Amino acid sequence: MSRSLKARIGPSILNSDLSKLYEESQKLLNNGADYLHLDVMDGHFVPNLTFGHPVVKCLRSKIKEAFFETHMMVSKPEQWIAPMADAGVDQYTFHIEPITNVEDVCRKIKENGMKVGLAIKPGTPVSEVEKYINIADMVLIMTVEPGFGGQKFMENQMEKVKLLRENYPLLDIEVDGGVGPSTISCCANAGANMIVSGTAVIGAQDQAATIKLLRDSVQEAILKQ
Ligand code: DX5
Ligand code: ZN
Repeated sequence: MSRSLKARIGPSILNSDLSKLYEESQKLLNNGADYLHLDVMDGHFVPNLTFGHPVVKCLRSKIKEAFFETHMMVSKPEQWIAPMADAGVDQYTFHIEPITNVEDVCRKIKENGMKVGLAIKPGTPVSEVEKYINIADMVLIMTVEPGFGGQKFMENQMEKVKLLRENYPLLDIEVDGGVGPSTISCCANAGANMIVSGTAVIGAQDQAATIKLLRDSVQEAILKQ
């Protein structure tokens, strides 16, 4: 990793009006989103269903440039690597909990031309993901139980973020779940630099101002580190 750490805000469209997925996504990008966080759920790894690669592909056909991250909350992430690459996904973030050979999945993702994100649920110790840091482009520390938007931020997960930041100064660390203006300073001070925010951004009166506020908080914390 030869670059410097960047504050990046990736809104989650999960709680937006999904009948207008393209319009809502484009609006977020126009309002300053750095990337889109697309929540894919299989009704098995998490008790909810969202959308898969056909929907992502349609969205990509209308939005050519933006960075797409898919957050794969699925039991068999290896199954969707090629279809998601074909759909135009830039980063494939998957949960390591159901996987026996994480290295293999990472290798396949890279062979398919995507970046690798490794995600852990609140109950998973950070040591479980730490052993794979060298083969990951990003680590996602969940700050809610995956499955639904609009849940309460779990502050106790910041211990994991702090530990990773102390040990890996340039690692991209993402937080996801309950993050918004009232919880951003916690995340930023712990060392997260990639911020997923769903309901707080989607429901904001002024989306652009909210996205800017989130990014400024992280940028400020990075400068202090
Ligand atoms: C939860 C998803 C999150 C979530 C974010 O399982 O991974 O991306 O939708 O939404 P908020 O910010 O509302 O918690
Ligand atoms: Zn997510």
